[in-house]
Amino acid sequence: MSLPKVQEHSALQETEDPAFQPYLVFLAHFTLCDLALTLRSLPRTLGVQTIFLQHEHKHGSPMTTPLNPSSILQTAFGFWGSKVLLTAVEMGLFTTLGNGRLTGAELTAQLKLHARANPDFFDALVAMKFLDREGDGPEAKYLNTPEGSMFLDAASPRYIGGILVMLNARLFKFWNDLPEALRTGRPQNEVKHGQKGMFEELYSDQLRLEQFMGAMTGISRPNFEAFAEKFDFSKFKTLCDVGGATGLLSIEVAKRHQHLTCTSFDLPVVEPIAKRHIAAAGLETRVRTAAGDFFKDPLPKADLITMGMILHDWNLEKKLHLIRSAYEALPPGGALVAIESLIDDARRENVQGLLMSLNMLIEFGDAFDYSGADFRRWCGEVGFTRFEVLHLAGPSSAAVAYK
Ligand SMILES: C[S@@+](CC[C@H](N)C(=O)[O-])C[C@H]1O[C@@H](n2cnc3c(N)ncnc32)[C@H](O)[C@@H]1O
Repeated sequence: MSLPKVQEHSALQETEDPAFQPYLVFLAHFTLCDLALTLRSLPRTLGVQTIFLQHEHKHGSPMTTPLNPSSILQTAFGFWGSKVLLTAVEMGLFTTLGNGRLTGAELTAQLKLHARANPDFFDALVAMKFLDREGDGPEAKYLNTPEGSMFLDAASPRYIGGILVMLNARLFKFWNDLPEALRTGRPQNEVKHGQKGMFEELYSDQLRLEQFMGAMTGISRPNFEAFAEKFDFSKFKTLCDVGGATGLLSIEVAKRHQHLTCTSFDLPVVEPIAKRHIAAAGLETRVRTAAGDFFKDPLPKADLITMGMILHDWNLEKKLHLIRSAYEALPPGGALVAIESLIDDARRENVQGLLMSLNMLIEFGDAFDYSGADFRRWCGEVGFTRFEVLHLAGPSSAAVAYK
């Protein structure tokens, strides 16, 4: 590959303006892409300087593409916005507002904040579209957006704030050690300096166990609702959700499909929490619990076995163990369903799936997320014969393997 011709690049290299540094990084990247670059102009767009570069493609005619550093800067500063939203959820801001309207001063008092928080904290949330505001100035009233009411008010039945609470309490600080994780391949969470396994350590503290369960509800609710609505359950009578946590998947499926009976299988310490949620949903007759260790015990037999974010918690050997156990517990025609932020087969598109896999490095070290093609290959090795992928919500999908 010949190196690309770079024209008028020096104009940028000569600048001492630090604001140009991202451009230089970006340009360096493009030289690797074998593009010839010609600097044309430096207009200002939305306060961010945009560079127009003429690309001479290897075989094509010259074309003009605007290059813009905003996505670099947006991601680089992303943790500011993230921390504001996570803090608002941790402080119960959306729950405090509920269906009401409060001025900045009233909200500051109710959340027990310093006066300096008002109005920057609230207006930042307004600008990020997580909060609404009627009017301007000190008399303005803050209120929840429709999404805030539905998903971030703890009183809502579709609350997902638990995942934001856990992101703030645990993962925000553990991700600070991403460089160490990348250099060592070791987990960076509570197990970093001990000998215990991740779940043993996490569940040794009841509050942390409950927080983790809330986080699973928050991240999984949209996927389980979509799965319960989109998947064809007509051929199945029994379902076992392996690693079922609060029983959420079983509850959502049982609510919508009267002909099914479900079992939520998890560690003994989790069982009372699942029982509580199943009773609250009034589904005790069709959703039962089973306690055990999926690495020591056979899985309960069922026509359909689901695993929500289970396989991604483990290394390949353990993933295969779980797939084999599912195969043994299923009848011919039965299906194994893995619900994950499934990475696209080319590993280029699903950012959340790839970041989730890095999160598995932070949490477990040797655990990793995977693509539909990976799932199909592993399940094929175990004996499954037919496969499909069903998109659920956002970055998540259900990978299905039929016995
Ligand atoms: C990442 S969470 C997923 C929870 C839920 N399936 C979801 O998608 O929201 C993993 C679950 O596996 C359970 N688990 C971990 N190790 C287990 C084991 N050895 N046997 C049974 N369940 C286990 C945990 O208690 C937890 O509920």
